[in-house]
Amino acid sequence: MKNISVIGSGTMGNGIAHTFAQFGFKVNLIDINQNALDKALQTITNNLERQVSKGTLTDDQKLEALKNINSFTSIPEGVKYADLIVEAATENVDLKFKIFKEIDESAPSDAILASNTSSISITQIAAVTNRGDKVIGMHFMNPVPVMKLVEVIRGYQTSDETTKSVMLLSESLQKVPVEVNDYPGFVANRILMPMINEAIYSLYEGVAGVYEIDTVMKLGMAHPMGPLQLADFIGLDVCLAILKVLQDGFGNPKYAPCPLLVNMVAAGKKGIKTGEGFYTYTAGSKDLVVSDKFKKS
Ligand SMILES: NC(=O)c1ccc[n+]([C@@H]2O[C@H](COP(=O)([O-])OP(=O)(O)OC[C@H]3O[C@@H](n4cnc5c(N)ncnc54)[C@H](O)[C@@H]3O)[C@@H](O)[C@H]2O)c1
Repeated sequence: MKNISVIGSGTMGNGIAHTFAQFGFKVNLIDINQNALDKALQTITNNLERQVSKGTLTDDQKLEALKNINSFTSIPEGVKYADLIVEAATENVDLKFKIFKEIDESAPSDAILASNTSSISITQIAAVTNRGDKVIGMHFMNPVPVMKLVEVIRGYQTSDETTKSVMLLSESLQKVPVEVNDYPGFVANRILMPMINEAIYSLYEGVAGVYEIDTVMKLGMAHPMGPLQLADFIGLDVCLAILKVLQDGFGNPKYAPCPLLVNMVAAGKKGIKTGEGFYTYTAGSKDLVVSDKFKKS
C-alpha cells in the first residue's frame, strides 16, 4: 500500500494524515471545509516541528512528510488512486453511510475502506457498500502520532485478508494493532465512556467538583489525566454521540448520557476544540483552569 486517502481533517484526520505521511505514505487529506483543511495542515506542521525540536525527527524528515500530503475538497477526486481510505469524518451514522456509498463508487475496486469511528457499527457501514469483505474499523487514538494503539475492528463480513493487511499496515506505522469484534463501542469506548459518564454524573449530583474528581482518578488510579479532562480532550460532542450509540446498540439505560453532558453540548461547550468544557483553554497556556461554571464559590 502506498496511497492513503483520509476523509475528515479534524482532530483525528490530521493526526492520521500526519502519521501516514511521516512513515512515507502519499496522503490525500479530504474535507468538505477548506478552512478545516488549512487548519489541519497548520496543525500537522506545528506537530512535526515539535517532533523536530524534541529530536525525534530531523528537519528533512519533517519536510518530506509535509511533501507527502495533498489536500482535496472533493471525495471522488481525493480517493481516485487510493489503496486504503481511512474515514475520520464527524461521528454521525447517516454521514458515514453517505460517505461510504460515495467512496465505494469512486475508489479503485480493490481498495480497503476503513473507518476511524469510535462506536458506529462497521457491519452496518459495510452493508451500504458492495465490498463488505474490504470494510474494516481502524480506530486510532488521540493524539494519533503519539498513541500506540490501533483497535482493528472486524465487521461481520470483513475478510481475513483485509484484517491481515490492516494489522501489518498498522505495525508499519510503529503502532500496536489489536483485533476486536464489531459490537457497540468495540472495546475501548465500551469501557471508557461509562467511566467518563459516571464522572460527569458525580459532578452533576454534587458528589465532588471537577478538580476533585479528576485528582481522585489521577492519583488514586494512576490515570495520566482525569476523566473530565479526557472528555474535554476527546470532545464532549464525540462522547455524547458514542454514549447514544451504546444506549441504542445495547438497549440498556445504563449507558444513558448524563443530562449535564447533553446540556453542555447543546450550549456549545464541547471541550478543548471550543475553548471550554469542564475546563477553560486559552491558546498558549498550559495551566488547567476549571471552567467558571464549575468553580466553587
Ligand atoms: N476525538 C477523538 O478523541 C477521537 C478518537 C478516536 C476516534 N474518533 C472518531 O474519529 C472521527 C472524527 O472525529 P474528530 O474528533 O476528528 O471530529 P472533528 O469534529 O474534529 O472533525 C471532523 C471533520 O470531518 C469533516 N467532515 C464532515 N463531513 C464531511 C464530509 N462529508 N466529507 C469530508 N469531511 C467531512 C468536518 O469538516 C471536520 O473537519 C469520529 O468518527 C470520531 O468518533 C475520535
